[in-house]
Amino acid sequence: MISAQGIRLIYYFYIVIEFILNEKLIRTDKPGGMPLVDFIRYEAGLTGTKIGCREGDCGACTVMEGSRSAGKVIYRTIVSCLTPLALVNGRHIVTIEGLNGETLNPVQQAIVDHSGTQCGFCTPGFVVSLMAQCLSGDTANLSKMLASVDGNICRCTGYKSIERAVRQVWELTRLHESSSTVAWMVEKGYLPAWFTYIPERLAGIGNQPHESPVNTIIIGGGTDLMVQKADDLMFGGIEKVRSSSAPGIEFRDGKCIIPGTCTVTELLESETLIQHFPNLGKHFSLISSTPIRNMATLAGNLVNASPIADLAIFFLALDAEICLVNGEDTDRFLPLKKFFKGYKQLDLQPGELVKYIRFSLPGRDDHFNFEKVSKRQHLDIASVNSAILVKINEGKIEKAHLSAGGVAPIPLFLAETSHFLEGKEITYDTLLRASEVLQQEISPISDIRGSAKYKRLLLRQLFIAHFIELFPRKSELSSLVQILQADEKH
Ligand SMILES: Cc1cc2nc3c(=O)[nH]c(=O)nc-3n(C[C@H](O)[C@H](O)[C@H](O)COP(=O)(O)OP(=O)(O)OC[C@H]3O[C@@H](n4cnc5c(N)ncnc54)[C@H](O)[C@@H]3O)c2cc1C
Ligand code: FES
Ligand code: FES
Repeated sequence: MISAQGIRLIYYFYIVIEFILNEKLIRTDKPGGMPLVDFIRYEAGLTGTKIGCREGDCGACTVMEGSRSAGKVIYRTIVSCLTPLALVNGRHIVTIEGLNGETLNPVQQAIVDHSGTQCGFCTPGFVVSLMAQCLSGDTANLSKMLASVDGNICRCTGYKSIERAVRQVWELTRLHESSSTVAWMVEKGYLPAWFTYIPERLAGIGNQPHESPVNTIIIGGGTDLMVQKADDLMFGGIEKVRSSSAPGIEFRDGKCIIPGTCTVTELLESETLIQHFPNLGKHFSLISSTPIRNMATLAGNLVNASPIADLAIFFLALDAEICLVNGEDTDRFLPLKKFFKGYKQLDLQPGELVKYIRFSLPGRDDHFNFEKVSKRQHLDIASVNSAILVKINEGKIEKAHLSAGGVAPIPLFLAETSHFLEGKEITYDTLLRASEVLQQEISPISDIRGSAKYKRLLLRQLFIAHFIELFPRKSELSSLVQILQADEKH
């Protein structure tokens, strides 16, 4: 069971922050809320890491973060503009300078070979992202290699030349079978030799004294807070940091328990979760980008309380329960659907933390689906998103849980539509009548992501799409496709 201690550990306020930046040990008393990118550029003088948007969108500031896990160092990309310094205590941070050798490394060479750089502003970010994928050892699949740069934007080159460079790196790395990826990459000139000594050097740092701050802004990955309140974190001198990189997802008695500190990437890497949700990769690849997924936590997604929060929508349809813990270590449980009370209003007491969520794993007769529509496929938040769980018994819907985002002030559990579906067969008529109930339950507003009318139409389409996706062989549903096509013409 996840202990309250495990959560409390992340309350540290560091007097001195210690980490390894490329090859160099850093000990600094700079504010823990200082963006890592500013430390890298203005304190350490490493200007290869660029600043584009400062909002996690462009990837120009991408660096690698190495953290110890089961005796190894796991490297992932993060955006340094949204990473407060305190979060890298005890970590290894690698910038483009840390990947430079006497000559171009094979990743840099591939970009040169295919003319994948023009002004060069984005190039360090692309190289770091691709190098992190190589370091993960997961290089056999070209699509994964291409997806590793999904958080990097280039304004001048055009992506085809970058794609060709990625393909060249894939050709070079896909067949390597060394027992140590780092050793192989050092031998082949991808990494400098000092990389080999990082695990033992990392073991000895980040254990310095700390004290609890008087005022605390709780922070998970910082991907919402650093966009919304960077100045408060910087000048308030207060912080709370991510715990260890151990995901700690538990499966017991048909239930799944996920700690609030779990990142989207850690969810995506859980083999047991994938067994129960075979489309998890497809669904969660629609959430932000690789570096943001590496940072973004479940608790942050729920507490940020955005009406379109993808994880909130996903777990609402699973009828999840949330466990909150206060200073006295007393657990408080409530259904996730009761956690959201109004626009950005939660049933969360001051000082309470999200400890974990738990839900019943889908059984053989359960069918689950998640849909999201956004202006861009990647790196974009939803205009409307929706998830559904239906349990089928003897040809009828025994249980239904439907959720939707972007159609109300909160991530919405659609209680009435869910109730309407229960006890009914899945027919053309049932779904048309249910979609009328659905329209009564929602109250979208017009905003930058679409007009209220458009969002109503979109949710109706996603609702129907759930059933077409889950029950493709149901012939009665084929005429629903025509409805979708007719809707598209409006
Ligand atoms: C470029 C970009 C793209 C994005 N794309 C998406 C997207 O596609 N879909 C999506 O849903 N979101 C998206 N987001 C939003 C964001 O990444 C997610 O909401 C993420 O899950 C937030 O988690 P975090 O750990 O970074 O939160 P933080 O910023 O650390 O915290 C958010 C809030 O949660 C509170 N909090 C954090 N941990 C706890 C805890 N354990 N207990 C209590 N309170 C806590 C914080 O105090 C804060 O109020 C995107 C963000 C960016 C920058
Ligand atoms: S500066 Fe654009 S992602 Fe950090
Ligand atoms: S080369 Fe100019 S932004 Fe990519």
